[in-house]
Amino acid sequence: MNNAKGFILILFHILQIISISKGQLKVGFYSQTCPNAESIVKSVVKEATLVNPQMPPVLLRLHFHDCFVEGCDGSILITENVSNPEIGANAHQGVEGFEQINDAKKELETQCPGVVSCADIVAMAARDAIFLAGGPSYNVETGRRDGKISNIKLAADMPDVDDQIDTLKSKFRNKGLSEKDLVLLSGGAHTIGTAACFFMSKRLYNFTGKDNFNDSDPKINPNFLPVIKNQCPKDGDFDVRIPLDAVTSDKFDDQSLRNIKNGTAVLSSDARLYDDEFTRQVVNSYADVDQNLGLKKVSSFAQDFAKAMVKMGRIGVKVGSDGEIRRVCNSFN
Ligand code: HEM
Ligand SMILES: *[C@@H]1O[C@H](CO)[C@@H](O)[C@H](O)[C@H]1NC(C)=O
Ligand SMILES: *[C@@H]1O[C@H](CO)[C@@H](O)[C@H](O)[C@H]1NC(C)=O
Ligand SMILES: *[C@@H]1O[C@H](CO)[C@@H](O)[C@H](O)[C@H]1NC(C)=O
Ligand SMILES: *[C@@H]1O[C@H](CO)[C@@H](O)[C@H](O)[C@H]1NC(C)=O
Repeated sequence: MNNAKGFILILFHILQIISISKGQLKVGFYSQTCPNAESIVKSVVKEATLVNPQMPPVLLRLHFHDCFVEGCDGSILITENVSNPEIGANAHQGVEGFEQINDAKKELETQCPGVVSCADIVAMAARDAIFLAGGPSYNVETGRRDGKISNIKLAADMPDVDDQIDTLKSKFRNKGLSEKDLVLLSGGAHTIGTAACFFMSKRLYNFTGKDNFNDSDPKINPNFLPVIKNQCPKDGDFDVRIPLDAVTSDKFDDQSLRNIKNGTAVLSSDARLYDDEFTRQVVNSYADVDQNLGLKKVSSFAQDFAKAMVKMGRIGVKVGSDGEIRRVCNSFN
């Protein structure tokens, strides 16, 4: 009896060692090795948001752009001592939040040197950003390791704002994400934050290639068209930023999906989610929920979005002994 118990214990132990050496993401990966890791990141995000209320969308977008190139491995953070780093790619235009990630890393290195990866800091910061903007709170998986590659060419297959729906679907499928994930993550995340008029020029003035004032996406709600054209005039300043969700810009809610249904989505890629029968149904499954009907009909958007974020956070992760734990986030060790 005792022998059998002992044997099972040893077997369990061996299995545990195998799973650790193989490595995997898990909630609370740093609970023993750096117990304050999550609270340190949270307070950096909180303080940065007090200084600049636009930090939550910035940090959320940063995680997406990290995960879609070489997996969620902090490759987007590399700015130093590399020729042609990934961050120089057009697809990453306007991506920010580096300073805040570097700040969190500095703090973490003083408490637990060499333990917490930059990729995990980005994932934790995105989670905290969503919550600060009024979105769901969720347990974030950690245990990612930092990548050792950053090259501008590797960003070539990022989704583009002017992509058609089939291209968007296949770019997400290539990352192991479903069409529902596409709707939730891109259509859903664009409930906060802003876009530069730069990204609107084709949609507003050159949609079919005719390049004139009236060559706009016909799917734009006719009442919204003059409003958005006024915000982003044809020969105006392309750096001007406009809210992605014109209704509740700073609140993380399901409004951006309602906007898609109403033809008032700002980005072309969001509007395209209504071109396809399946993705349209997914949009409607959230947009059609009557917010005034009480608990029974409350949209499951927030919880579904959180699940999709966890899934996105698993793309191409390096675990176990792959990659490295960077000393600073903007440079390889
Ligand atoms: C189909 C895929 C996607 C496309 C084509 C796309 C495109 C864009 C573009 C063009 C902007 C404006 C950028 C700027 O002017 O600085 C933007 C902003 C943003 N995107 Fe996406 N996006 C996609 C998916 C996602 C996903 C999956 C997330 C997060 C889960 C995300 C989060 C954000 C956020 C939060 C902003 C606002 C950033 C800010 O205010 O600084 N996007 N996106
Ligand atoms: C980049 O390389 C230079 C010269 O080797 C070095 O002094 C500097 O500290 C490096 N920068 C980072 C962030 O590692
Ligand atoms: C308008 O679109 C056409 C076709 O895609 C392209 O050749 C042309 O350069 C665009 N014009 C501008 C001003 O971007
Ligand atoms: C655009 O359409 C408006 C109204 O339909 C018309 O008055 C105007 O001349 C058109 N502009 C161009 C450049 O085609
Ligand atoms: C749809 O968009 C128009 C134009 O912005 C707006 O006036 C209207 O209230 C919106 N309708 C819904 C149901 O959101």
